[in-house]
Amino acid sequence: MKDLKGKVAVITGGGSGLGRELALCCAARGMRLVLADVDESGMVETVRQAGERYPGTESATMRVDVSRSEDVEALARLARERFGAAHLLFNNAGVAVNGPMWDYTPDDWHWVMGVNVYGVSWGIRAFVPMMIKQGEGHVVNTASAAGWVYAPGSGVYNASKSAVVAMSETLAMDLRDVDANVGVSVLCPAFFPTAITSSARHRPSELGETSPETEAKRQREEQLKQAVEKGRISAAEIAELTLKAVEQNQFYIFPHKKIKALALARAQAADRETDAFDTLAGR
Ligand SMILES: NC(=O)c1ccc[n+]([C@@H]2O[C@H](COP(=O)([O-])OP(=O)(O)OC[C@H]3O[C@@H](n4cnc5c(N)ncnc54)[C@H](O)[C@@H]3O)[C@@H](O)[C@H]2O)c1
Repeated sequence: MKDLKGKVAVITGGGSGLGRELALCCAARGMRLVLADVDESGMVETVRQAGERYPGTESATMRVDVSRSEDVEALARLARERFGAAHLLFNNAGVAVNGPMWDYTPDDWHWVMGVNVYGVSWGIRAFVPMMIKQGEGHVVNTASAAGWVYAPGSGVYNASKSAVVAMSETLAMDLRDVDANVGVSVLCPAFFPTAITSSARHRPSELGETSPETEAKRQREEQLKQAVEKGRISAAEIAELTLKAVEQNQFYIFPHKKIKALALARAQAADRETDAFDTLAGR
């Protein structure tokens, strides 16, 4: 979609980190904003920043738990009723949990897959038919480098982000088959500074049982926190290059070029058929 001015952007996870920066990039282009998050005060802050930097920005917000299809359907109704359309959907809300593969609880799986995988699925289900009918639209799914190469200790997150890559590639082919003028992009960043390492702050209490606090888990969480904090590309930069990719109808978005080299090395490991690819060693 080349000309975004006056169009409607729907952003899940719009109350923090990358979602907030995506909202600001959309506001900079004169788009109208529909924000969805479980964090209502975060969305208020995003709307405040958008209004301050780009006066006249029109916004609507809704408390939405993306893992609940009925919440995401209500979000689609809000976009339709308030602005008459939804042109650009960012399925961006995401959460992470850590631990060795054998320690994850059913609650860990339900929580992360609910937000990261079902959330994307409900977004596609609620908005893509509207876009097909409108004759224009674009969906950006926030996956991760973890959709391609897998850090140890992040098995549930890795599985969820691989699913997002699979869903995005399949969606692109399905839309091509029906000749719809709806674009798709899949965003695959490595670590960058946001609040992702404290995503348990919004974990629902009914899915509260998590893997045991071992020393190995604590160390792994500390490593991830450091990696996120030290990320050299900012959320604002990633958001801007994502918007540029939408304007150019670009499918894969790899802000960190090293990830593409690792994905190729992983394909070579598969070709050798001997050992599991070791992401940290790059072979
Ligand atoms: N920060 C990184 O290093 C990194 C790297 C790769 C991919 N990502 C992905 O980027 C996306 C954005 O995350 P971020 O880094 O900005 O983290 P963040 O924690 O700053 O923002 C995530 C937002 O999602 C919201 N959210 C959580 N559960 C929700 C739910 N059930 N329904 C609706 N909203 C919910 C949170 O309230 C928060 O506002 C995620 O999909 C994440 O997996 C992040």
